Amino acid sequence: MKICCIGAGYVGGPTMAVIALKCPDIEVAVVDISVPRIAAWNSDQLPIYEPGLDDVVKQCRGKNLFFSTEVEKHVREADIVFVSVNTPTKTRGLGAGKAADLTYWESAARMIADVSKSDKIVVEKSTVPVKTAEAIEKILTHNSKGIKFQILSNPEFLAEGTAIQDLFNPDRVLIGGRETPEGNKAVQALKGVYAHWVPEERILTTNLWSAELSKLAANAFLAQRISSVNAMSALCEATGADVTQVSYAIGKDTRIGPKFLNASVGFGGSCFQKDILNLVYICECNGLPEVAEYWKQVIKINDYQKNRFVNRVVSSMFNTVSNKKIAILGFAFKKDTGDTRETPAIDVCKGLLGDKARLSIYDPQVTEDQVQRDLSMKKFDWDHPLHLQPMSPTTVKQVSCVWDAYEATKDAHGICILTEWDEFKELDFKKIYDNMQKPAFVFDGRNIVNADQLREIGFIVYSIGKPLDAWLKDMPAVA
Ligand code: NAD
Ligand code: UDX
Repeated sequence: MKICCIGAGYVGGPTMAVIALKCPDIEVAVVDISVPRIAAWNSDQLPIYEPGLDDVVKQCRGKNLFFSTEVEKHVREADIVFVSVNTPTKTRGLGAGKAADLTYWESAARMIADVSKSDKIVVEKSTVPVKTAEAIEKILTHNSKGIKFQILSNPEFLAEGTAIQDLFNPDRVLIGGRETPEGNKAVQALKGVYAHWVPEERILTTNLWSAELSKLAANAFLAQRISSVNAMSALCEATGADVTQVSYAIGKDTRIGPKFLNASVGFGGSCFQKDILNLVYICECNGLPEVAEYWKQVIKINDYQKNRFVNRVVSSMFNTVSNKKIAILGFAFKKDTGDTRETPAIDVCKGLLGDKARLSIYDPQVTEDQVQRDLSMKKFDWDHPLHLQPMSPTTVKQVSCVWDAYEATKDAHGICILTEWDEFKELDFKKIYDNMQKPAFVFDGRNIVNADQLREIGFIVYSIGKPLDAWLKDMPAVA
């Protein structure tokens, strides 16, 4: 059997590498229109940082795993074609700012129809609006020249930073297909691939629309949990409760469970906001404005949380950060990834820059080029194929990036911790304090440092959702 995956990104690359590792009898080709990305997959410096990925790729590359820009050739030869291309939020036209832009998906589907010479199973791996399979089916069948295509929905649930573990040991694999004999046969064929390593009871099969909607629903539920705990964090600060204690107490209820209850500066990543906006749009299109409004609140609270953080920083520092040096520790949207898509750090940095701060940024996995690109890019422009993104972004002058937390914090007035990298817990804060301007502030957007120890050193510390110290109480932030 031959598999081809269109799109060598955060999903296509790791997913196919694991399929190749677990299915030595299957030949897997990952193809992309981005020449530099494919070159990186074929080099020692993979295009994405993901713990354990290097090892998996090294074991299979050149044996039964290939990365190539010969898109048409590999599609033509494949029995199963996964499509894992970008599905960004539309930036213009009908549904702008909400609906999914299916330009890349549609162009991939037209190309599949165009080059195919044998029957194929086409698998939606990208996250797409409900009923996309129907549209894709139409494109394929209207252009098929007699070739038969079966469309399956097989959404991906991996989280970045733990992608390899998630793929090795998934909670479930979801496969949706047409409820026809041909549809069932295609579902069984894909099930057979996953059955190489995933226990049968964890491979769920549904109809196409349930599979498509389950992906949007899962991300909406996860993001809703974070917005719920973040909303509580504001109330904790106002009342003297401690959000960590509240999360622990409610998480002990087995109906609620302990995971995904960490208050933060806000959720980021390429999926949550995009997929909820997409869900909101689908609700509106289906005449369900109340349901749309309900899910919109998840995004609103997330924006509120990021604004609240910026306001707290500015108000505590005598209501101005103009020309003050602020150290930003962590720029990626979570630890163990270099991914900055929709990271809350972008909004926090833009907020501080709006108040004329000077920023010194350190993230162990994010380059200065990437930071500059993120800070100068328009909303949603990031989620387009790399070759369509600006190569030389305008430089934001008040921003510099360094490769060391001590350098970033030297002479700074304040520190904002925006990503929960483990190494930030191990920093010598006494040394940092001695090299900072006084009073020295720490704003912990991830609740990872020991605030009491830092206060003993002399810092003024703000931790999300924790009781405020006297200084912060005297400098109330306007929400
Ligand atoms: P990505 O931007 O990292 O990768 C997409 C790749 O597709 C790019 O390299 C791009 O060049 C390529 N591409 C676009 N159009 C193409 C075409 N016509 N032919 C060949 N290649 C093409 O994106 P990603 O993070 O891998 O996400 C892909 C999809 O998976 C999205 O729909 C996303 O919502 C979904 N998803 C992402 C995650 C995640 O954690 N990143 C998790 C689950 C689902
Ligand atoms: C998410 C989903 O978890 C995954 O199933 C889906 O396939 C893609 O989207 P990802 O965005 O990679 O994965 O990371 P995730 O671990 O979900 O974190 C998303 C954001 O929420 C991060 O910014 C993270 O820091 C934040 N978060 C997570 C919190 O603020 N608090 C938490 O308790 C958990």
